[in-house]
Amino acid sequence: MRIAVLGTGEVGRMLAGRFSETGHEVVIGTRDVEKTLLREPGLQGRDLKPLPEAAAFGEVVVNAYGGTGTLEALREAGAANLDGKVLVDVSNPLDHSQGFPPTLFVKDTDSLAEQIQREFPAARVVKTLNTVNNTLMAYPRQLADGDHTVFVCGDDDVAKSVVSGLLLGFGWKDIFDLGPLANARGLEMMLPLWVRLYGAFGHPNFTFKLVR
Ligand SMILES: NC(=O)c1ccc[n+]([C@@H]2O[C@H](COP(=O)([O-])OP(=O)(O)OC[C@H]3O[C@@H](n4cnc5c(N)ncnc54)[C@H](OP(=O)(O)O)[C@@H]3O)[C@@H](O)[C@H]2O)c1
Repeated sequence: MRIAVLGTGEVGRMLAGRFSETGHEVVIGTRDVEKTLLREPGLQGRDLKPLPEAAAFGEVVVNAYGGTGTLEALREAGAANLDGKVLVDVSNPLDHSQGFPPTLFVKDTDSLAEQIQREFPAARVVKTLNTVNNTLMAYPRQLADGDHTVFVCGDDDVAKSVVSGLLLGFGWKDIFDLGPLANARGLEMMLPLWVRLYGAFGHPNFTFKLVR
């Protein structure tokens, strides 16, 4: 598939690399191509484009921006370039302004995924992968032989099946459909626990397994 990964942080770079490795055509979107290449020389030779061009290319568009920058980045990408697209949201609404642990700037009665969906109603938003570290996102079998859980939720069943197919391609085995996008509230509210586990372990190489 044609996949646009918006964002050049460790998540964007990791997912872009893994999508290429698993046979997809990938472009990476950034706000300023030249500045990003100076900051991330490892992106030399990659298909790096301004956000609107990248989003226009993708059949699937991945939001890998920080929570606070997400809506602004997607606005810059352009609503018309997101219309009808599967929009994979892996972001978390973390507020780091008061130090560690971060707090959530939206929760309980709303979520960042729903904010995205409200602002871009013609995009088909699927929340996934936000509860795992970027290495595990891309290489789930590096831990416990992949015997752990990734969640998907969204209001468009076809979009969720497209995303599940991409996750299977990464090696995920246990993909749990948590239902409508409003349940992204629950996925985003796993982060206060995740960051405390990170504090306890001192590394991010752990994750959640749903035992039925
Ligand atoms: N890190 C993880 O393993 C992980 C796991 C699960 C979920 N998430 C979520 O995934 C999203 C992306 O995470 P991330 O860790 O890749 O975020 P990040 O490093 O903050 O990168 C996000 C964007 O911020 C800009 N940026 C990156 N480094 C910068 C720097 N040094 N100075 C100025 N701007 C910079 C880049 O935008 P431009 O390209 O436009 O410059 C980049 O696309 C977040 O919402 C996060 O909560 C992360």
